[in-house]
Amino acid sequence: SNRTFTMIKPDAMKNGHAGAILDRIIKEGFRVVSLKMTKLSKEKAGEFYAVHKERPFYGELVEFMSSGVIIAAILEKPNAVAAFRTLIGATNPAQAEAGTIRKLFATSLGENAIHGSDSDENAAIEGNFFFSGLEQF
Ligand code: GTP
Ligand code: MG
Repeated sequence: SNRTFTMIKPDAMKNGHAGAILDRIIKEGFRVVSLKMTKLSKEKAGEFYAVHKERPFYGELVEFMSSGVIIAAILEKPNAVAAFRTLIGATNPAQAEAGTIRKLFATSLGENAIHGSDSDENAAIEGNFFFSGLEQF
């Protein structure tokens, strides 16, 4: 598929990095299919990250992801999922390659600035979690 899903997380929003992150994404050749600023309730954050329910950091992750506004977006580019995960870098910013979005803008492993879907299947599920069919251009 040519689409992926992303969220600019509450740390990057609070730290004023949203504009720079969106600029970088667009300069890397992604087309914005859908985009909104919103805030996840604890319940919705828990549902989004349900796959991590049994992990020790789940509670912290849900607290953090519901702690402030986010920007959610569907993006399009050939081989989007892999291309976008390369652009954002490793989960832990300390291990992320120089120049990646997480290296430039993340705070810590838990507060790592940005999300990128990990498969075509999850990209579709996650995009549909935030956007109706009428909002996907
Ligand atoms: P996402 O794009 O956000 O899904 O990140 P990822 O695919 O690189 O990592 P993963 O799906 O394994 O983990 C989801 C999110 O949980 C990460 O982005 C981190 O924000 C958070 N996370 C992962 N490991 C830890 C941890 O050990 N401690 C804490 N506090 N958070 C973690
Ligand atoms: Mg993940």
